[in-house]
Amino acid sequence: MTILTPTNNHGGNTANEVATQGGSPIDEATLNRLAGEFFANIPGAAQMASHFLPSLGGLAASETHAPSAHSNGVPGNTVPVLETYQRPGAVPATAQAEPARLAQGMPANFAPALPQYGTANVPSDQPYYFLSADNQFGSADHQLDNLAGLAINGGDQSYVAQSFGLPGQNPLQAKARSIPDHSATKEPEKNSFSPSLVSFRQGPESHFYFEQANQLYWDQAPAVRQQHSGVQAPFDINAVRSDFPILAERINGKQLVWFDNAATTQKPQSVIDRICYFYEHENSNIHRAAHELAARATDAYEGARQKVAHFLGAASVNEIIFVRGATEAINLVAQTFGKKFIAAGDEIIVSHLEHHANIVPWQQLAAEKGAIIRVIPVDDHGQILLDEYRKLLNHRTKLVAVTQVSNALGTITPVKEIIELGHRAGAKVLIDGAQAVSHLAVNVQALNADFYVFSGHKVFGPTGIGVVYGKKALLDQLPPWQGGGNMIVDVTFERTQYHDAPARFEAGTGNIADAVGLGAAIDYVQKLGLEKIAAYEHALLEYATHGLKTIPGVRLIGTAHEKASVASFVLDGYSTEEVGKALNEEGIAVRSGHHCAQPILRRFGVEATVRPSFAFYNTCEEIDRLIAVVRRLANAKK
Ligand code: ALA
Repeated sequence: MTILTPTNNHGGNTANEVATQGGSPIDEATLNRLAGEFFANIPGAAQMASHFLPSLGGLAASETHAPSAHSNGVPGNTVPVLETYQRPGAVPATAQAEPARLAQGMPANFAPALPQYGTANVPSDQPYYFLSADNQFGSADHQLDNLAGLAINGGDQSYVAQSFGLPGQNPLQAKARSIPDHSATKEPEKNSFSPSLVSFRQGPESHFYFEQANQLYWDQAPAVRQQHSGVQAPFDINAVRSDFPILAERINGKQLVWFDNAATTQKPQSVIDRICYFYEHENSNIHRAAHELAARATDAYEGARQKVAHFLGAASVNEIIFVRGATEAINLVAQTFGKKFIAAGDEIIVSHLEHHANIVPWQQLAAEKGAIIRVIPVDDHGQILLDEYRKLLNHRTKLVAVTQVSNALGTITPVKEIIELGHRAGAKVLIDGAQAVSHLAVNVQALNADFYVFSGHKVFGPTGIGVVYGKKALLDQLPPWQGGGNMIVDVTFERTQYHDAPARFEAGTGNIADAVGLGAAIDYVQKLGLEKIAAYEHALLEYATHGLKTIPGVRLIGTAHEKASVASFVLDGYSTEEVGKALNEEGIAVRSGHHCAQPILRRFGVEATVRPSFAFYNTCEEIDRLIAVVRRLANAKK
């Protein structure tokens, strides 16, 4: 057992250090008395305690020293004594006393002066407080391999402190476990979800339950319609909705309907809790300090990387680079792969469907290098014309960069074929998965993608965090794009030696907390199951598509056979802004505008659309509310 006690902020050793690191031994009772006196005298102790103590509620606390739940201040003569979590196989805290060794870049003649134990005796003027890479606990590779099943920075020089447990870890784990398994909560009653819904995207039978639909159908009461539609969530939809606190918001006096999921998704409580937990218990910079919080934060961050690797089916965590979002991800590839491998006269292929984020960085690169951009056209439904793509490929094609799901139209593109054809021509292929990862199960190895990018906030995670997946062999050939701390092995004024991926591409302090939040979001969607999500959302899309089609004056933009849950449309007689405003008055949030995808909208002769986009927490009843508003607007122009 490790005894953790609050740290003395007034300089000097912590109580824990006093107890364990030589000097006269102090028994626990004395230690507790001293600490109790100390805390009782801190101004604001009562407030601090009321904030601090509840968070200890679920911890394994020593019976004799546990703080009273009824205390209105720090209990006299007691301090919390926490039993810390021990990973299987973790070295007991008492066995940690390994000599700290040289951190990279430390002047060689400083080595003999290094203390033999921890940091407590390090001379105060020495700036190096890292554990070294060859310290027993210092190698991220060794340490995380052993302790968390991770393998990062293979054989490199990362500095990682050792975590021996998290206060509140048990409650957190309990919370993680309590991500409800809604898939098993309810047997559908009738018209139950059928796996055949999945086949909607597979063949012409996909429209079966709307084929005979007509206006009469839409004149039925919503409940009756929904029953007849066959749209039944393959999970407990009410329980799922209650996981998303924002869905209870009222907008203009009406219950919020969130149909702007292609712009950003809402966050489940488990993601919100995970981020709070990080700031309450783990917050530190990562990879670089010898202290406990650095170890916790590093574990949390690298654990999130592992979740992403698993989510994408990557071969290694070293293939996962954290960035701000899909836009930054594509810019990273342009500035590294593009700078190194694309030259004057080379060709970059994108599709007509692309978001500006998958156009502009390539234009910038092409302008700089004298490269040429080629565009795969789409048919009148908004699907990529593979035959035209074949014609564009040639030996000058160095990169193909294509979206997996169009944000403006919802088209699901045939990325597997696109990648295979690109490879046959000798090109590398980047897939923009920003709109795909929340709707479809992705496996980058099965796709054989060279790069795959996405944003955390589109998959129920926080904003400001995103991912580049790159094949390791490819990443290893790429130069860094930003320079600074964290991405280096060694720096002198003459030269710098860089880490391998992923650290090579993560200069500076990253968005640690939100990476951890993204990990929690991935846990959530995986628990629900992407196959079920895809099937239910497709049923919602079919329901909405049919409803919109019955309204005179509605023109759907993007009618590809394979679509994710985006239902872009325009309405005769109204600007898209007017429609968006009318929907907002009823509490319904949609995006109206060009969706950062002007070329594809212009391909369909429009500058803007109204774009409802659905997620697994939406319902047919909500779609009915949207249809009712659009119908009312249409009727007003008759
Ligand atoms: N890319 C986001 C959208 O489609 C912002 O709305």
